[in-house]
Amino acid sequence: MKALGSDADSDRNPDPAPVITIDGPSGSGKGTIARAVARQLGWTWLDSGALYRLVGLAGQRAGLSAHDEQAHARLAQGLSVRFTASPDGEDEVWFEGRNWAGDLRDEAVGRLASQVAAWPLVRAALIDLQRAFKRPPGLVADGRDMGSALFPDANLKIFLTASVEERARRRYKQLKDKGLDVSLADLSRDIQERDQRDSTRAASPLRQSDDALLIDSTSRDVGQIVKQILTVAQCRGLMGPSLVG
Ligand code: DC
Repeated sequence: MKALGSDADSDRNPDPAPVITIDGPSGSGKGTIARAVARQLGWTWLDSGALYRLVGLAGQRAGLSAHDEQAHARLAQGLSVRFTASPDGEDEVWFEGRNWAGDLRDEAVGRLASQVAAWPLVRAALIDLQRAFKRPPGLVADGRDMGSALFPDANLKIFLTASVEERARRRYKQLKDKGLDVSLADLSRDIQERDQRDSTRAASPLRQSDDALLIDSTSRDVGQIVKQILTVAQCRGLMGPSLVG
């Protein structure tokens, strides 16, 4: 595990494109927290789950068989995607000339994503695309295997978790706020199934890296966690002092 505090090397020769990885299960708050940390730092944000969601949904819309790993891998290999934010701060995911962000958050698309993400050929096809997001002034990458597989030398690795009940409750609130009719019991079952699939698959399963800092978000708010991450990032010499409020 890297020690807290900036070492002599990083003082002399700061990393031009440092990386913070935030991994964890569905509903742990990774996306919200990664986005907030990236915005505070002025760094790029990689929402790797959106790539698996896009492969799943675009594959379905292109009529690919839900069992055809090779066809999905070909789709993933040529994926040309652009992440932007609208003037009012809404996330946008551009692919083939249109913004898919709204469709990607759907529960059914999350299930599709979890299936395609278990295929080694699809995971391999997305490696270069994900690593290309590492550029100055820095990257905050969120997903399941950012610290364990994609960016093993990341400057700071976080493993974010929360209880199943809390994660289901958060998702329930989000969907209810959108006016959708959902059941807390169904969401809880769905989250547990997804956890099981994501952590037991052979290819890059969800797991906490030995050198990751574990943060449990169950009874903490986003602001507290963002501040904790920025404080550790500062201790490691990844940013100036003024950003931790
Ligand atoms: O974080 P998310 O819910 O948007 O991710 C959707 C699915 O994609 C999730 O079930 C696991 C998978 N995934 C993955 O296997 N590896 C990643 N780096 C990101 C997501």
